[in-house]
Amino acid sequence: MRWTERQRRMLAAMGVRLFEPRRVMAHDDEGVDEPETVEAAPRIDTAPPRATAARRPGRIAPSPPAAAVAPAGDVASMDWPALQAAVAGCRACGLCESRTQTVFGVGNAHAHLMIVGEAPGEQEDLQGEPFVGQAGKLLDNMLRAIGLTRAEAPPAQQVFIANTLKCRPPRNRNPEPSETARCAPYLNRQIELVQPRVVLAMGRFAAQALLATDEPIGKLRSRVHQRRGAPVVVTYHPAYLLRTLADKARAWDDLCLAATLLEQAR
Ligand code: URA
Repeated sequence: MRWTERQRRMLAAMGVRLFEPRRVMAHDDEGVDEPETVEAAPRIDTAPPRATAARRPGRIAPSPPAAAVAPAGDVASMDWPALQAAVAGCRACGLCESRTQTVFGVGNAHAHLMIVGEAPGEQEDLQGEPFVGQAGKLLDNMLRAIGLTRAEAPPAQQVFIANTLKCRPPRNRNPEPSETARCAPYLNRQIELVQPRVVLAMGRFAAQALLATDEPIGKLRSRVHQRRGAPVVVTYHPAYLLRTLADKARAWDDLCLAATLLEQAR
C-alpha cells in the first residue's frame, strides 16, 4: 500500500517501520526455538490442505435472540445464523450466569483476515462487540495502518473479529481451560464458515487455544503456523501492548507478516 506523509510520520513516531510487501518463503525449521528477543525469519509450518467449507456466509447481521442450547456436536454443521443463535443462547459453562450478553464477533463474514482475541471485557460484555475498549482502539489503529478496518467494507479490507470465549469471565479473570474447551466449537465453526485467508491470533490465550499448544507467545510469534489449512500468525494482545510499548515494534512486524500473507493469497 502507499503511505501518506502523515502516516509515515505517525508510524515513525510509534517507532515502527513501514510495511513493504515481500515474499514469505516456506522452510522446514521444526524444533527451532526463538528466544523472545530474537527477530526470527518468518516460517511456515506444514499441514494438510484446507478442507472445503460447507458454505460461505454473507455479511453478518445483528445476533438473533437467544435460542435453545445446541448440543456441541451440532455446532460443527451449523450455518451462520444457526451459529449466532447457538452462541446467543449458550449455557455450556458457568460464564452464562454473569454475562450481560454473548459477544459473537463483528465484521465481514467473508473476511480475508480473521482476528481472534481472548474474551470480552466489561465494555464488550455491555456493548456486545469485541474489542471496543482502549485495546480495541489500538487494534483499530493497527489495522488502519495496513489498510484494514472493522467497519463496512469489501472482504479484502473488512476484517472479522472474534474471541476465543464468547462470554466475559467475571472481573476479567483468565479463561479456565474448561471454558475454553466448551467454547472452542463456536470459534472452530466461525473459522470454517468465514474461511479467512489468514488468522491473526492476538495474545497468549488465543494463540494457545487455536494452535493447541502451551508454548509461550514469544516462541509462537514471528512465524506462520498452519491450522486446518489456514495460516495463523500470532502476535501480542493489544492490551499488553498498551502496557508494554517496547513490544509494539514486534507487533508491527507480526502485522506486516499477516499483511504479506494476505497479499500473497490474493
Ligand atoms: N480483549 C479481548 O481479547 N477481546 C475483547 O473483545 C476485548 C478485550
